[in-house]
Amino acid sequence: MTEPTPASAPAACSDRAAALRFIASMQTDPATATAYVGTLEEGLETELEDLDQDWMDTLRVCLDSDGSITGAVLLEWDDEVGMSWIHGPWCTPDTWDRDAVDLLRAAVEQAPVGRHEIYADLSNTRLADLAADQGWRGGTAHCVMRISREAAAQADGSVRPVRPGDLDAVRALHEAAFPGTYATARQLVDGDQGYRTLVADSSPGSSDGKVIGFITGQEDDGDVYLDFLAVDPAHRRQGVARRLIGALAAHLPGEDMTLTVADTSEAALALYDALGWERTATTRGYRWPA
Ligand SMILES: CC(C)(COP(=O)(O)OP(=O)(O)OC[C@H]1O[C@@H](n2cnc3c(N)ncnc32)[C@H](O)[C@@H]1OP(=O)(O)O)[C@@H](O)C(=O)NCCC(=O)NCCS
Repeated sequence: MTEPTPASAPAACSDRAAALRFIASMQTDPATATAYVGTLEEGLETELEDLDQDWMDTLRVCLDSDGSITGAVLLEWDDEVGMSWIHGPWCTPDTWDRDAVDLLRAAVEQAPVGRHEIYADLSNTRLADLAADQGWRGGTAHCVMRISREAAAQADGSVRPVRPGDLDAVRALHEAAFPGTYATARQLVDGDQGYRTLVADSSPGSSDGKVIGFITGQEDDGDVYLDFLAVDPAHRRQGVARRLIGALAAHLPGEDMTLTVADTSEAALALYDALGWERTATTRGYRWPA
């Protein structure tokens, strides 16, 4: 293999169009893509624009001697959650060994929070090796699943939009099921960042009702992404999750519904299999500090 031409150190970039082209070329291949900004060229710019911070501000690139982009990374973070999500690093095959570590560091250095995460398809083995070399902890594998929204949708009177007074009940369910995750219960209840939360009420229409389950989703590039679903242990296997999924599908517009779920979550996988969701990919998250 020929040696790559010497690269510039990671630096800010003002060529938006070139950056978009480069990132799209990396995102369309699962072996070089990282999660959360989509794998189709179409819609990529919108997804980048929807990140919490301006993607052109956090973007760092490496250039070859002709000024062409050979590597890139960017990130977003949430102060309330105390976490950043790194998109990339992406590098051409011949520059990965030289530049990927510097790009990763250039991303982490920008984040005003202490915890960081990258998600990628299992076929992105270069990223898995980089994460291991740098002491990031690889989490459990996650199945990416999909179902047509039309097939999932059903109206249900026992499911209603969340109200501010449901915060404590949602928080108890959320923190028990998803400790340390990427959104707080308050964000789900307040509808921050496009989250839509519905709750299952034990006694709909009466003031005695108790929240026995919740579901949170958001519109995502023409689909509905299911972020969180949890049912009170005392009310499981009574069809509550089935009703929540049906209600979310009826509530939000979109072509399909998608989600990711840990491949160790036996109940959740049994649920999605029973409802006809199809597995489309397998991803893994890498976290630092480990
Ligand atoms: C996964 C979870 C949401 C299921 O909620 P639920 O209200 O008990 O699910 P439902 O009663 O609607 O189940 C519908 C079908 O899914 C399947 N299913 C659900 N839980 C199952 C389990 N523990 N074991 C086997 N099958 C299961 C069954 O086919 C069930 O139908 P059946 O009871 O008639 O056999 C609940 O167990 C939970 O909150 N778990 C912790 C959080 C979590 O894992 N969330 C999902 C990750 S996004």
